[in-house]
Amino acid sequence: MMRPQFRWSHERRRVLTALVLAALALVVVQVVACTSRSGSGASKAPPPSTLTGPAAIPLRQLAARRHLEIGTAVDDVALTSEADYRTVLADQFSLIQPENAMKWDATESQPGHFDFSGGDRVVAVARQHGQAVMGGPLVWYFQDPPWVDGGNFSRDQAIAALWDHIHGLVGHYRGVVRSWIVVNEALDDGGGSYRDNVWLRSIGPDYIAIAFRFAHEADPAAKLYLNDFDVQMPGPKTDRMIQMALGLKAQGVPILGLGSQFHVFRGITSIDFSKVSLQMRQVADAGLDYAVTEWDMGVALPATPSDLARQGRLAEDLLRACVTAPRCPAFIVWGFTDRHSWIPSQTPGYGAATPYDEQLRPKPAWAGLAAALRAPG
Ligand code: G3I
Repeated sequence: MMRPQFRWSHERRRVLTALVLAALALVVVQVVACTSRSGSGASKAPPPSTLTGPAAIPLRQLAARRHLEIGTAVDDVALTSEADYRTVLADQFSLIQPENAMKWDATESQPGHFDFSGGDRVVAVARQHGQAVMGGPLVWYFQDPPWVDGGNFSRDQAIAALWDHIHGLVGHYRGVVRSWIVVNEALDDGGGSYRDNVWLRSIGPDYIAIAFRFAHEADPAAKLYLNDFDVQMPGPKTDRMIQMALGLKAQGVPILGLGSQFHVFRGITSIDFSKVSLQMRQVADAGLDYAVTEWDMGVALPATPSDLARQGRLAEDLLRACVTAPRCPAFIVWGFTDRHSWIPSQTPGYGAATPYDEQLRPKPAWAGLAAALRAPG
């Protein structure tokens, strides 16, 4: 069916606006970077806050006006070795989440032996720049060390291992890490049943409530989330997740909300954002937050201008849904630069998934995010 004419014109205007904003941002970044290189000999681009025009206002400043955290996953290695990465991170984002550094394999590779080095690097940067930190996931079926994955635990042993891990990690960051993904991907792909993992096998489904209780004991002020993918729209998996969260609340388990990963993969050509908004409202009506925890959109490489414009529109529509939702406190991109994104290594042939390119030039997705934060309403 043909799209109505007014809709097409509206979309075209948005594409043009996104492209113009991105082009403007690109030109200004390049001009200022060149000036800086020829003037002082420094190779580092200045913070974007020195820019003028529409690109001048960083996302975090725009987001603050909407009472929203704009966040990103961070690569803790790039954080120490790449000054330009640190600059954009500090300038643009108000919340950071370690992409891998607070996962179980990174923090407790041997029972009782904790390594907080990666997480501490992230926390130090966040402190320096006044950013909130979201940690986790505390419990996931993936990226566990062999002693966990292969653990043939009794119920009591498994609960003791969970206690040690959660108290060790959350306790270390008590009062510092403001929110945690407590349990990640507890439901199987269709949402019909619990996803198999070592905790389900040794404890049963109440491992979820136990994990939340331990996290709350370790830091009573921390905001605790249940996170999953394919829960952005009304459907069986989303219904199950809301029921699960409400069941936890009814038992007095301190869960604040749901995290929706929102990775957009190949094959998804369009998203009905009215359904996303409906879902966000239903979650709020159930008394829960709905945070977008891991947005990105991989496109076939090499990415064309129209792919990137589509990505920009999608970023804008999704963030707009969050901005106008009753309880969407955070929008987190899963990596902010194509220089460090999980997509190309795990989905060969796809990439260009984030708001900045590999040279840290803003893309139409950056402009889309900015436009959503600027839009009235
Ligand atoms: O830690 C080893 C390191 O020792 C080794 O030198 C290196 C060599 O390749 O590999 C390192 O581990 C990799 C790790 O990232 C850290 O770089 C793993 O192989 C790799 O599988 C892992 O990928 C991560 C992936 O989770 C694992 O599933 C991605 O970076 C990370 O972006 C991704 O994030 C997940 C979220 O946590 C949950 N939602 C889905 C999302 C995407 O899969």
